[in-house]
This record gives sequence, structure tokens and C-alpha cells, in this order.
Amino acid sequence: MQIIHSIDEMQCLSEKLRKGGSKIGFVPTMGYLHKGHLSLVDLLKEQTDTVILSIFVNPIQFGKGEDLEKYPIDLDGDMKLCQERGVDIVFIPEGVEMYRKGHSTLIQEEKVSQGLCGKTRPSHFQGVTTICAKLFNICQPHTVALGQKDAQQVVVLKRMILDLNFPIEVVVGDIFRENDGLAMSSRNSYLTSEQRRDALFINRSLRAGQELVGQGVLNGETIMQAVISTLRQAKSIRLDYVEVVDRNTMEPKQEIIPNQSMIVLAVWIDKVRLIDNLIL
Ligand code: PAF
Repeated sequence: MQIIHSIDEMQCLSEKLRKGGSKIGFVPTMGYLHKGHLSLVDLLKEQTDTVILSIFVNPIQFGKGEDLEKYPIDLDGDMKLCQERGVDIVFIPEGVEMYRKGHSTLIQEEKVSQGLCGKTRPSHFQGVTTICAKLFNICQPHTVALGQKDAQQVVVLKRMILDLNFPIEVVVGDIFRENDGLAMSSRNSYLTSEQRRDALFINRSLRAGQELVGQGVLNGETIMQAVISTLRQAKSIRLDYVEVVDRNTMEPKQEIIPNQSMIVLAVWIDKVRLIDNLIL
């Protein structure tokens, strides 16, 4: 496994790999890897010849007062997991090189990024699209693997890839959950044991919505209310949003269309913001 820090070195190697006919798979991450990230590596190992995984805590996708300063880091643990999983190249750029003095270009997706998480975190997706465009230009992947847990991010990035003509295919990995149903996230590490117990209501609430759909209820508002009332049973949970949306566009929908509609939600547990979703 190769570990590369320099942007030039990474870009030269990607060019060389492409010229040599190697199909490049790429997993962008902010590190503190869990099974969800590793399942994306597995997906790419099946479909590509060289798997690159990047680790970069991207400052410009965090808003003021968010958790940039305390975002969990465990580079040694991450390297061990990457090695065990068969990642070929880990790319760990430096912030000062990624955003050189005078950096003044940002990429803004204007539609999908505006609602849901984009309302609470107004500059977040601009930061995500900007860093991903840069990483795509550096790592030059044929295929990118993204996790379904960040459902809106997936749709925003697919839109950017299409709109900006990146010759990249996107594969989406399922949400990975702990045994008790909590979706895996680097941010789960912030939770106290009591908060973690309350966090179980997130998945429980999504399943309450799904159960109604199973009983034939197809009204989006009724589903949302069932989700909200389950979440309200947890003392420490504050709602950011709950919506029923089209999974391909993230537009809110009144009527459930099976396999096309999705419940998406974001909640606060004290200062920890968690997101989750379920395709109905
Ligand atoms: O999902 C993430 O971890 C980040 O948003 C990403 C895609 C690595 C960009 O920084």
C-alpha cells in the first residue's frame, strides 16, 4: 500500500496508471474509517484495478461553530484498516497545499444542495463539491464510490459530475448500521452512552415510517408525523428536519412511490448532528 501526501505525486501516478490501462476506483473520505467506508473499498475492488482512498478533513465544508476543530482523527487506525482491506493508495493531502494562498474558486450546485442539510448548513455542499472536484482532478478515477447514508451528498455529486462532464461513474454503497440499528458515522464517537441510547430512536423512527408504508399508507405527511412522534420519545433529540423526498432529486413528495421515495432526516443530540435515511 502506498501513502501519498503530495498533490503532484498523486496526479502523476494517476496519469501513469490510466496510461497503463488501469481502471481507477476512488473513495473520498474524511478519515476515522468505519465499516461503511470499507464496504465502499470492497465494491471498488470488484470493479476496478487500483483503489485510491483519500483522507482529508475538508475545512471549507464546515460552517462557523461546527465540529471542524474536534473532528475525530485516527490516522494509524485508518492505515491499518486500509492495508487489511487491500486499498492500493491512500492519499492524504495537506490543507495548505489543497487550499493554497489565494485559492478563490468554489463550485456551487444550485438546486439539490439548497434544501434539507443545505438549509441548516448553507455552505456545506459548496465545500463538498469543491473538494470533490479537486480530488477528482488529482486522482482521476474512472469510478467513485459514495455512501448512501449521505443521500443528499450523493445526489449533489452525481449532478456535479453530470453538469461538469467528469468522465466518472458513481457507485453507491448501502448504509452500514451497528447491530442495534444506529447508522455508522464518524460523529457517533461524540455521543455519551445516554445520548447513544437516545440515538437509537433515529432508526426506530424510520422503521415506524416504513411499517406504515407496509400497511398501505402512502401519504407523505402521515409518514412524516409517525417518524416525528417516534423521535419525540427521545428526551435529548431535537429535530432539524424530517422529509419524504424523491431519492433521485431530493424534492419533497406528498405521495409515496415505492422504491423511489425516501425518508430523510437530521437531528441534533446536544451539539451532535446526525443524519439518516431509508428508501421506502
Ligand atoms: O462524506 C464525506 O466524508 C465528505 O463529505 C467527502 C465526500 C469526503 C468530501 O470531503
